[in-house]
Amino acid sequence: MARKKNNTFVCQNCGQSYPKWQGQCATCGEWNTLIEEFDEPARDGTIKFKTTAGIDHGICQSLDAIESERTARIPSGIDSFDDLIGGGIVPGGITLIGGEPGVGKSTFMMQLASRLAVNLKPIVYISGEESLTQIKLRANRLRVANEKDIFLISEQNLESSLSCVLSCLPKLLIVDSIQTVFTPHLESAPGSVAQVRESAAAITKFGKDRGLPVFIIGHVTKEGAIAGPKVLEHIVDSVLYFEGELTSQFRILRVFKNRFGSTGEVVVFQMTEKGLLPVLNPSDLFVNRNRENSPGVSIVSLLEGSRAILAELQTLVTQSFLSMPRRVVSGLDSNRLNLVLAVLEKHAGFKFYNKDVFANVAGGLRLGEPGGDLGLALALVASIRDLSIPRDLLPIGELTLSGEIRPVSGIERRVSEGKRFGFSRFLLPENSEFNDLSLKILKVKTIKEAIEVVFPATDNS
Ligand code: TYD
Ligand code: MG
Repeated sequence: MARKKNNTFVCQNCGQSYPKWQGQCATCGEWNTLIEEFDEPARDGTIKFKTTAGIDHGICQSLDAIESERTARIPSGIDSFDDLIGGGIVPGGITLIGGEPGVGKSTFMMQLASRLAVNLKPIVYISGEESLTQIKLRANRLRVANEKDIFLISEQNLESSLSCVLSCLPKLLIVDSIQTVFTPHLESAPGSVAQVRESAAAITKFGKDRGLPVFIIGHVTKEGAIAGPKVLEHIVDSVLYFEGELTSQFRILRVFKNRFGSTGEVVVFQMTEKGLLPVLNPSDLFVNRNRENSPGVSIVSLLEGSRAILAELQTLVTQSFLSMPRRVVSGLDSNRLNLVLAVLEKHAGFKFYNKDVFANVAGGLRLGEPGGDLGLALALVASIRDLSIPRDLLPIGELTLSGEIRPVSGIERRVSEGKRFGFSRFLLPENSEFNDLSLKILKVKTIKEAIEVVFPATDNS
């Protein structure tokens, strides 16, 4: 008798499923993202739950009776990466490395494998994307050490590759990428939500059962979600994302989720001919020490996790001949720009309604927190008035809707990064508690006052 398939239509953007096809996903609003997927029932039609150690009932224990265990961490050999993930690789820890195609995920994993193969061997690298010779070519380019301890499997069928992994008894497993492997139990195509979810669950179980650390590579769609989307983030222990413009050589690896450490931390890498190299002082790369004074440019001190990084913010305000003047942003949120423009109009008397405004963060960094507001506002004023912000002055502060400058977190770290870089004057919010008598600190209450301090003798008309 033919088995009845339990088919549903699953949105490839958000993972929501529907019994019938429809043009638009009612949950995320995307069009044409619903694809038919088949959820195969268990072979005999029943779902079996397994319990641990063959006991057919659960165990309830008081918290104090549970012995705490210090998880041994295995250093990767790349210090900045170890600091990022909280001290090293955790046995049985499942990590997802996400990023756009071409950002450098496979490159980084091969470099990591090369370093890790000293302590954790053998390592198995399953690739569903590239042939063995392609991977070898990359390894040669990266001058991978310990080649005899890294085993490659070029296979998309997860069942065959995992059974092959068993024969190698590896200490670390890498799967590149989750969108190209598939489990034969599902009829859906590789890369579909059902396949990605099922394959990730199978790999996670495989790793957890054996105390095997696993790195899963996942491609991120242009909307920023891993295809087979948020479900993956819940299954794994840690999620790291590679960010950065493919046209620039900088890459930022950010901790998005971490069961074994803190989140939000970043490491900046530079893509070179020998692969990704960690950058110890990223501010030196994002900001030019010998830059010329130029109107519309401001340096901002951004907090990335627990460290501050200086970024160059460029703005351009020009006369507009359009009925809807342009607001073009790169590396920052257009809503943030609109807010700062509105505050400048309302509380400092500037007019932007007939101006095109462009704002850009150089080097592929993102201005994702409010500490750069004051810098952005001053850069816009500088551009509209054709003036330069003094080179020795670093503005730090958030702008409120009422035109006040509000303190932001980590002022001390932001200031000390500025000091290291050579800034000697700091423009800070009036009610910030930070003070340092060895530095020249200018405190301002409102955006109007800030403009008067930075650009004395300017009229706003
Ligand atoms: P890759 O790791 O294949 O990206 P992903 O796995 O995320 O899709 O690397 C992508 C880019 O990196 C590719 O365009 C070439 C470049 N690259 C270098 O610049 N130097 C190198 O040493 C290597 C191996 C790659
Ligand atoms: Mg790749």
